[in-house]
This record gives sequence, structure tokens and C-alpha cells, in this order.
Amino acid sequence: MKKRVIFLISLLALQAVVGSVASRDEVQTGKLEIFSWWAGDEGPALEALIKLYNTKYPDVDLINATVTGGAGVNFRAVLKTRMLGGNPPDTFQVHAGQELIGTWVVANRMQDLTWLYQQEGWFDVFPQSVIDRLSYKGGIYSVPVNIHRAGVMWYIPAHLAEWGIASPPATLQEFYADCATLQSKGIIPLVIGETWTAIHLWDEVALSVLGADDYEALWTGQLSPTSPEMIAVWDAYGKVLDCTNIGDNAAGLSWQQATDLLVSGDAAFNVMGDWVAGYLSTTLRLKAGDGYGWTDFPGTQGTFMWLSDTFGLPVGAPNQEAAVAWLKMIGSIEGQNTFNPLKGSIPARTDAVDQAPDLYNEYLQYTANEWAHERLVGSMMHGVVANERFMGDFNQVLDIYIQSRSSSAAAEAMQSVCEQAGACGF
Ligand code: GAL
Repeated sequence: MKKRVIFLISLLALQAVVGSVASRDEVQTGKLEIFSWWAGDEGPALEALIKLYNTKYPDVDLINATVTGGAGVNFRAVLKTRMLGGNPPDTFQVHAGQELIGTWVVANRMQDLTWLYQQEGWFDVFPQSVIDRLSYKGGIYSVPVNIHRAGVMWYIPAHLAEWGIASPPATLQEFYADCATLQSKGIIPLVIGETWTAIHLWDEVALSVLGADDYEALWTGQLSPTSPEMIAVWDAYGKVLDCTNIGDNAAGLSWQQATDLLVSGDAAFNVMGDWVAGYLSTTLRLKAGDGYGWTDFPGTQGTFMWLSDTFGLPVGAPNQEAAVAWLKMIGSIEGQNTFNPLKGSIPARTDAVDQAPDLYNEYLQYTANEWAHERLVGSMMHGVVANERFMGDFNQVLDIYIQSRSSSAAAEAMQSVCEQAGACGF
């Protein structure tokens, strides 16, 4: 009898151990390669996530593989070589929208994560507008770690006061007036950097001139790239470019170096996504509000041009389990609240900020509120409304415009790039 009791107790103890191991799907091992363009000054938020992962899964050998270069312009070429060469990373950074869907999903290179959304209850916490940009033919193909706002105009309040600019311009007309004042003082009115930052600026000028409806119509084929509305976009873009450093040092500047020129007082404004807020707060330790200011790009008030950094699971990912654990973590409240306060972005989850509002500075609180209330439009430069081919080829359109300064030549060139890339409704 005594023996039987001991046997039963041992059996129960064994079951408890086995059961707990089985239910701990968290036990992960092996290598896990996270592939992104968040290197150097862009790195702190990703590093915080990696630290969290290391704490949860100490037996995984996590490799933080990066290709430097803002907006992923260098990264995407390396990713393409690896994906097409049958050497995918375990998971990689990719923008929500056409960059994910029109590039990798249509080519059957990504795994459907609907089951993970169900399991983690994500249908209730990620906005439908974002899920729609991750979905294709009934599947969902990545997990959003953030929402970035693209159309922000950054400045240093003390500098504007010094230069006699009472408040940042609200319209393009006001901007042109400030531009003349600043140029007469030897200040760069609007600093840009390498080519992609000039495209980022084009996106904002297009939204300002077209308004949200026509901007969207352009990408769905309802507004022709050669329409009079689009000629007006190029005309305005030319005027805005004349207020930048395009003819001087722009091509050699990263977005961080362009931002540095704001801080040093060589330039007045910078039109960039709110990764600039992450850089100014986390890296340069300036205070949102006093240390740096922000406003909507002139003429885009009431709209919120968004983009989202997401991670997906490629077909053939070597360490699927550890990659899924990464995806679960970045989609959790804990993951989103670890990453976003440092990154200058807001959580994609609608329930994360309320769990820890003190983590979010004045800028991020403001943006979270705007995200909830403004008209949303997707960014072209950051993958939401146009596929990767278009984004790459748009460089040529820009070159044609910069060389010729002809709005109609640029409009024609854009039309053919749209056709070739299968973008803008083609
Ligand atoms: C964007 C990306 C941001 C930030 C930025 C600058 O495309 O979504 O997270 O990294 O590029 O590199």
C-alpha cells in the first residue's frame, strides 16, 4: 500500500514536471536572427526589445543583424538577395502595406500568422485599419511593433524665436514667406538629406497640395499621375525644394545628420517621421516641448500620414519556434511599451499606452491622441501605399525633376514608373 502511494505521488510529480515543460512553449533554443535597419543611432529601441527577449529566453543565441541606412534603402537590397537565394533570416523588419504584401506576400514568401492573431487575442487590440494592411486573401502576414507618423515638421523653439519666427508656418504660403526671411539670414529654411528624405518630403507636399482624398486616389488609380492636380504637386515641390539644401550638402547627409543641423542652428525645419523624436529624446537627450518642437507639415492639418514597422515569418525561417516567440513578444503590451517610448513611435496596440502612460513623453501623448482622431493616410516612401519596386524606381522620377525642373516631364516619368511597377492602380 505504502509503495503504491509513493508510486502515485512520484507519477503525479513527474506529470507535473512534464506538464509544465509542455505548457512552457517559452523554452526556446538555437540561433535566432533578427534582421533590420535599426543600427547605430537608430538602435536603442530594438536593443531594449532584444534585452527583454534575452531575459525571457536565455538559451537562444540572438543575432541582431542590421544593414545601416535610413528607411531601409540599403537593407532591402540585401534582404532581396537573401530571400531569393533561399537564405531567409528568421524574421525581418518590413513596413505594413504594399512593401509587405506587394513584394513578399504575393510571391508566397511569407507565412500566414492568422493562428497567432487568434491565439494572442490580437484581433481585439490592433486597429482594423492596420490589420487590413497586413492582410491578403484571408491571411495575415506580419506583426506591427509600432505606428510612426511621417508628416511632422520639427524645429527648435528657441532658434525660431531668435530668428523672429513667432510660430511655425501653417500653410505653404506662410512657409514660403518664412523661407525668404530665413534665407536672408543665411539659415537653411528646410534641411533635407540623402535621396529618400527628398522623397519623404515629396510625399508631404503631395498630401498638402492634393488633400487626403486625392492623395489616396493617386495610389488606387483614381487620380492620374499626369493630371493637373499632379502638375500642381510638382510645381509646389519645386518651390519647397528651393528652400532646402538640395544644391549644397543634402546628398551626403543621413537623416540624423540633417537633424543635427536643426540642433546646431544651421537649419530651421526638418520634415521627417517621428523617429526624429526618438533621436532627439533618446540619443540627444532633448526634452519634447522645450528642447524641440513639432507641427504638421503646412497644409496637412487634420490628416495623419502613418506607417508601421512590422516583423514577419518568412517561408523557410530556420528557427520557427524562436521566431514566433519574438513575434509574440513584440505584439504584447510589454513588448510595445518597451520599444515605443525609446523609438519615438506609438504602440500599434490600442491598449498599451493606457497601461503605462508615464512612459510616453509630451510628443508621444499628443501623437497617440491624433492617431485616434485624425484622418489616416498611408505613406508612399515607407511602404504603405506603393510596392517596393515603385519606391525604388521613384528615385529616377525625382532625378528627372531635379535635373529638368519640368513638372510635366516628372509627371510623365511617374506615369511610366507606376505602369512598370504595377503601382498607382496599374
Ligand atoms: C522608416 C522606419 C523607421 C525608421 C526610419 C529611418 O522607414 O519605419 O522605423 O527606421 O525609416 O530609418
